[in-house]
Amino acid sequence: MSLSERVKTSLGGVELRSPIVLAAGTAGVIDEMADVLDLSMIGAITTKSITLQPREGNDWWRILDLPGAAGMINAIGLANPGLDAFLEHACPNAAGRRGIGALPCAVIASVAGFSVDEYVKVAANIDAYSASHGGCFPLIELNVSCPNVRSGVEFGHSAGLIRELLEAVRPVVRTARLIVKLGPMTPDLPGVALAAAYAGADVLNLGNTIPAMSIDVEQRRPRIANTTGGMSGPALHPVMLKHVYETRRRLSEARPIPILATGGVLQWEDAAAYILAGASAVGVGTGLFVDPRSPITIARGLDRWIARQGRADLSALIGDLLPPLTPGRA
Ligand SMILES: Cc1cc2nc3c(=O)[nH]c(=O)nc-3n(C[C@H](O)[C@H](O)[C@H](O)COP(=O)(O)O)c2cc1C
Repeated sequence: MSLSERVKTSLGGVELRSPIVLAAGTAGVIDEMADVLDLSMIGAITTKSITLQPREGNDWWRILDLPGAAGMINAIGLANPGLDAFLEHACPNAAGRRGIGALPCAVIASVAGFSVDEYVKVAANIDAYSASHGGCFPLIELNVSCPNVRSGVEFGHSAGLIRELLEAVRPVVRTARLIVKLGPMTPDLPGVALAAAYAGADVLNLGNTIPAMSIDVEQRRPRIANTTGGMSGPALHPVMLKHVYETRRRLSEARPIPILATGGVLQWEDAAAYILAGASAVGVGTGLFVDPRSPITIARGLDRWIARQGRADLSALIGDLLPPLTPGRA
């Protein structure tokens, strides 16, 4: 059964059939999830973050399940095939999958780098590929918030660096809309988000993992080879929810651009909370490891919620949060 029209949304002018977006790095390089998930039932896939050179990533172990359903810690270290191999081997799957047509959902190309120049080269090449292949990447996401590499995180940490990055990248991305992905540790996240919006970002993705660590006390050793990593999953949700709420308020006063909220979405209620806080779409990463088909269950749950709220569609509930109930006061 297909999804109802009620859950349609858009990000920076790109129409999405569902508000659920598969988060970067949790769904293969491009279309590997197609084997377990009907991609016509999701809004968009985000590719693995692509760097200029291929990267093996960090040593093993680099991914860890946390006890008590808190989520997981990863320190993958941006393992990816690199720009050339991505363009040659993976991109044809986005443009038209071995003769069976383009993917049935939007594809967001995620870009990472260690210098402004690297972001520029990777983003420009992917945008040019997209332009000559039917716009197969309508959105390009700049990952400026990866905690597992030494320098990638820095661009996301200050308004000045974000401006510098976007001044260089914006002019070379001629056809795709630009998403900037910021993390929960960004000092003054609403301020940096606003700087990104003024510098040409079309959409903000809030956010990425939070730096974390786990120790095996019997062995007296860190559980992952990189010692520290990034925590994702349910424990991240309340943190990002506050960031989405505050950032949306700040943006709406000055320069409103849509927010893609990412962090700890396992159930439809988690996604609904982000929508009420002001998100137009919702990323799912760790949720895919729990149940790869959760994006469909979540979209169906949202659909029923929208109907119960008596609204025509999802857009009518974006940011539509009421004040807290205070017992004893009218
Ligand atoms: C195994 C793994 C790999 C990831 N790789 C990337 C990546 O390459 N680029 C990126 O921007 N985010 C990456 N992320 C972060 C996710 O896209 C997402 O922002 C984060 O996990 C929070 O969402 P979640 O709680 O739904 O997992 C990765 C996360 C995990 C768990």
